[in-house]
Amino acid sequence: MNCAAQDLTNPLCMATSRIHFPDEDVLKLKAYLPSFRSQDSDFEAPLSTPIASRRDGASRPFVTLTFATSLDSALSLAPGVKTILSGSQSKSMTHFLRSQHDAICIGHATATADDPGLNCRLDNAMGLEHQPRPVIIDPGLKWNFEESSKVLQLAREGLGRAPFIITNDVPLNENQKRLLEAHGGKYICLSRGILTSNEGETYHHFKWADILDCLAEEGLRSVMIEGGGRLINSILEPGNNELVDSVIVTIAPTWLGQGGVVVSPPRRTNSHGQPIPAVRMTRVSWHPFGEDIVLCGAIQR
Ligand SMILES: NC(=O)c1ccc[n+]([C@@H]2O[C@H](COP(=O)([O-])OP(=O)(O)OC[C@H]3O[C@@H](n4cnc5c(N)ncnc54)[C@H](OP(=O)(O)O)[C@@H]3O)[C@@H](O)[C@H]2O)c1
Repeated sequence: MNCAAQDLTNPLCMATSRIHFPDEDVLKLKAYLPSFRSQDSDFEAPLSTPIASRRDGASRPFVTLTFATSLDSALSLAPGVKTILSGSQSKSMTHFLRSQHDAICIGHATATADDPGLNCRLDNAMGLEHQPRPVIIDPGLKWNFEESSKVLQLAREGLGRAPFIITNDVPLNENQKRLLEAHGGKYICLSRGILTSNEGETYHHFKWADILDCLAEEGLRSVMIEGGGRLINSILEPGNNELVDSVIVTIAPTWLGQGGVVVSPPRRTNSHGQPIPAVRMTRVSWHPFGEDIVLCGAIQR
C-alpha cells in the first residue's frame, strides 16, 4: 500500500508507516528481551543474573508482559474504548518489542475494541520474517472479525501475519474459518481449562501453562502479552505469574479516572485472612521515554 503523508489519518496507512527505534534505547531493554543473550555474548546486563538467559533450553515460550498504563492503573477509559496512552517514543518501543518476539497475545475484547494491526512497523525490521504472529484468546468466539479487520488487511498486504485464535471446544462458523485460513490464520481448540461462574454466567478460562504449551507446539518461542485488563489480570494470578519472564510497562503521566479497564490482579490474603500484596516486581529499572516512564523488571518468585 502506498500512503502519501496526508494519508496518515487513514488507519491502514498509520498501520503501515515506518517507525525508528534508536540503538541507545535498545540498550536500555536488552536485559529483558528473549533473544539478546544468545546473540551477543559481550553484552553486560545491568542486572546480576540476566533475565533473558533464564529460559535457555526451556520448552515453553519466553513471556514478556507489556502494556501502557495511566497513573491510576488503567489501560483504557472504559471497556471497549480505544485510549491512546503512550507517547511517540514508547509507541516506537512497542514496535521494537514486537520485532523481538515470535507472537503477540491479546484478549478478544481488545481485538474488538481496538481493531489492532498487531504488526511491526520498525524501519529496520521489514519483511514477513520480522512479523510476530498475533494470538487472540477467545474461548467463546466473541471476536467478530471481517475481511476489513486491520489485522487481515495487513496480512493481505504482506505487512503482518493473520491471527491464531485460541478457542474452547465450540462449534466454528464455517465462513469465518474459511476467511481466517485464506489469510494464513487458524483456530486452535484448547479444551482444557477451568470453568468459573460469575453473576450467573459460566466462563471457560485457560491455564496459561496450557496456552503457552500450545504456542510452543506451533513453534512460537517467545510471546509478548499486550492486554487487555482481564487477560493481564489472569496471567498475574498465582499459578500463572511464575510463567512471566519479563515485564515492560509504559506509565503515562495521566489519570484516566474511575470506570476504566484496570490492571489489578485478584487479592491475596495470608493464613490469618489479612490482605497481602498480590504480585511484586524485582530486578527493576526505570527509563524515561519522552513524557512516559518505562518500567522493566521480572516477577518476584
Ligand atoms: N493500554 C494498553 O496497553 C492496552 C492494551 C490492550 C488493550 N487495552 C484496552 O483494554 C480494553 C480491553 O480489555 P478487557 O479487559 O475488556 O478485555 P481483554 O483482556 O482484551 O479480553 C478479555 C477476555 O479474554 C478472555 N480471557 C482472558 N483471560 C483468559 C484466560 N486465562 N482464559 C480464557 N479466556 C481468557 C475472556 O474471554 P470470555 O469473555 O469469553 O471469558 C475475557 O473476557 C480495551 O479498551 C483496550 O483498548 C489497552
